[in-house]
Amino acid sequence: MKQIKAALLGFGTVGTGVVKAFADNADLLRQRLDAEVVLTRIATRDIERSRGVEVAPGVLTQDVDSILVDPDIDLVIELMGGYEPARTYILKAIAHGKDVVTANKALLALHGPEIFEAARKAGVDVFYEAAVAGAIPVITAIRENLGVNRFQSVFGILNGTCNYILTRMTDEGADFAEVLEDAQTQGYAEADPTFDVEGIDAAHKLSVLISLCFGTPVDFDQIYTEGIGAISALDIQFAREFGYKIKLLAICKEDGGRIEARVHPTMLPQGHPLSDVDGVFNAVRIMGDFSGPIMLSGRGAGMEATAGAVMGDVMAAVRNRHRDASGRSPACGYRSDAIRSLDIKPMDEIQSHYYLRFMARDQPGVLGQIAGILGGEGIGIARMIQTERHVENTVPVVILTHDTCEANIRAALAQIDALDVVGEPSRLIRIEASLD
Ligand code: HSE
Repeated sequence: MKQIKAALLGFGTVGTGVVKAFADNADLLRQRLDAEVVLTRIATRDIERSRGVEVAPGVLTQDVDSILVDPDIDLVIELMGGYEPARTYILKAIAHGKDVVTANKALLALHGPEIFEAARKAGVDVFYEAAVAGAIPVITAIRENLGVNRFQSVFGILNGTCNYILTRMTDEGADFAEVLEDAQTQGYAEADPTFDVEGIDAAHKLSVLISLCFGTPVDFDQIYTEGIGAISALDIQFAREFGYKIKLLAICKEDGGRIEARVHPTMLPQGHPLSDVDGVFNAVRIMGDFSGPIMLSGRGAGMEATAGAVMGDVMAAVRNRHRDASGRSPACGYRSDAIRSLDIKPMDEIQSHYYLRFMARDQPGVLGQIAGILGGEGIGIARMIQTERHVENTVPVVILTHDTCEANIRAALAQIDALDVVGEPSRLIRIEASLD
């Protein structure tokens, strides 16, 4: 039986899961593959630490370069994360004719086109199923199974940390800071949670999905990104009263040759399948012209879930290499001469329904002033609540708007925030009413 040799770069949580999969499910790999795949080298800085998995003598090394230039190694699995040196290592592995499997969404979001082009020229594969939504096979689904579709929209709950925090805030009525601290203690959030809670991780993943769906490189800085740090228990409570749940949603919509690309807290109707995706789970809802709506959900992170996705890629790479067919499928799903440049729609031009919360002084005429400004900007009020809860002599006034343009909302909020009867900056949360 032909032998394919693989090497692992990075021996953290997911890397440990990959070693475990090679050992625990070796029989399945033998039953499903026509070639034998062997993990021959693992590069890690710390070769002394025990990870609770068995590694044969001589497999561990600190010398990454010896792997990258070794002609016997066919496949490099990059699980180091970060931009550098991961980018340099991947490009070097490709230059030496190796296929690459990576879970590195940050790298792909910023350097995907460079890596994919290098792979195309070298005739090797780059697989990255584990980069988006962990165990959910969304990359392969879009690239292979759904390839004939023109995609209209993609909605994703793509960050398990945020979904866990928002779920607990919803269930317990707790505030963000309190839940974050507890999540960190329990290991559900990183010690430095910036990439997760500020929406950057979800935006990286959205960028990868957009390239795949539309065959366009994405300028990452053009993805509007807003995290969950400003969501309060009060907003979650009002959302519930209006029949919504708040999720950090990654949104992509095709609109007349332009793309909407944004990540922000979003109110979703209670009872919609996406709003029922709770805890550390992820979900992706895709609308294609042939497929109609598809929703996939599952574990977006964790050792086994992510390692399982990596192993699916390893198996695909082994199959291609065994048949000398590496590079048969373009990494971004489109032929290089079909890659086009689509513009990202500026946020000011998007249309949405909005939840607006003002902390206003409880005196005659205040509501009239707020409603007058909204009316002046052509914003229609759909629903409204003013409660008797008193917070520092102010009352929350909450307004849900009809479908309106973000620029008008911004203009209205600037005027309302300048009123001396309004106590603190107004709060805006977008509502996704239809999800089609
Ligand atoms: N940090 C990510 C999350 C998992 O919380 O979903 C890895 O992509």
